[in-house]
Amino acid sequence: MYLRNAWYVGAWAHEVTREPFQRYMLDEPLVFYRTEAGDPVVLDDRCCHRFAPLSAGWLDGDDIVCGYHGFTFDPSGTCVAVPGLDKAPKKARQNSYPAVEKWGWVFVWMGEADQADESKIPDFHYMDDPEWTGLGETLPIKAAHYLIYENLLDLTHAKYVHKTTLATDDVTGFPLSVEDVDDTIVVRRSMIGIEKTSPFFNRCAGFTEPVDHTQHITFTPASYIMINTRVQSAAGTTENKFAEFRIINALTPETSKTTHYFWNLMRNFSLDDSELNDWVFNGNRGAFAEDKVIIEKQQEMWDTVPGAKPVPFPHDKGVIQSGKLMDRLIAAEQAAKKVAAE
Ligand code: FES
Ligand SMILES: [Fe+2]
Repeated sequence: MYLRNAWYVGAWAHEVTREPFQRYMLDEPLVFYRTEAGDPVVLDDRCCHRFAPLSAGWLDGDDIVCGYHGFTFDPSGTCVAVPGLDKAPKKARQNSYPAVEKWGWVFVWMGEADQADESKIPDFHYMDDPEWTGLGETLPIKAAHYLIYENLLDLTHAKYVHKTTLATDDVTGFPLSVEDVDDTIVVRRSMIGIEKTSPFFNRCAGFTEPVDHTQHITFTPASYIMINTRVQSAAGTTENKFAEFRIINALTPETSKTTHYFWNLMRNFSLDDSELNDWVFNGNRGAFAEDKVIIEKQQEMWDTVPGAKPVPFPHDKGVIQSGKLMDRLIAAEQAAKKVAAE
């Protein structure tokens, strides 16, 4: 079951062009394109006539023409032309979904359209702030979106999954604090005065003395995890170095067991270092590929024990609270839907 009254990332802005394309979100086939004025349009891809995909058709101005029998729909999903008829049948229409382009992503609202409030999109301004730089991409994962939330909310896995990149040996030695702040879950870990940080951060700043490494992770329903992480020279050392990142992750369910994993890794230091740009991007891409391997294998195991209860440990606290928050929000949405239907 999905939370539907929420903004999900549907695409990178550069993917949405005058060439319609199909993408599944929340188990539904959608078609994405742009109007002549440049606004993103998202409609049900399954044509209401005989269910051919509109994405196999073409654009006529701002409208999309089904490539099978020529039904034509405007950006609101209204059928504006049917070959051989003066007027389209009343029932001929496509669902149209509110879509907003912001910070390089196209956000899509698949719930009640009158609740699609743009101000509910989380603050990811780092993605187009001149004080920050970085790159990202989409990683398709054959696993449920919540298994990826879990991966990002419990970073102790870095010690085991990312041995040559993100691993910080001390990560399991420091406790977490977890807070529910206005329907977001905030997980914090501070590793103060540790002897060494991960190979990734060492490459970025060249630490040779002990450091303080902080991780501040925010889960914002339904699909976002932002990791603020900073490593800096510890008090009492002779160095004065730091490296700071915002890892912005959007986990959009494609189906109940496959996910579009949109990520962007932004940093606020060495902004003009193009060699570092490539190194950071490729390093993170390599690490996330390691996550993909273990998460897809984990999904296979979950499938062998539907409904089973896993054994928790203290580093899971953020995972468990985020799951409870999602359960609560989904239950509230379902209850409201039921009341509205009565
Ligand atoms: S299936 Fe689209 S017009 Fe017939
Ligand atoms: Fe990871």
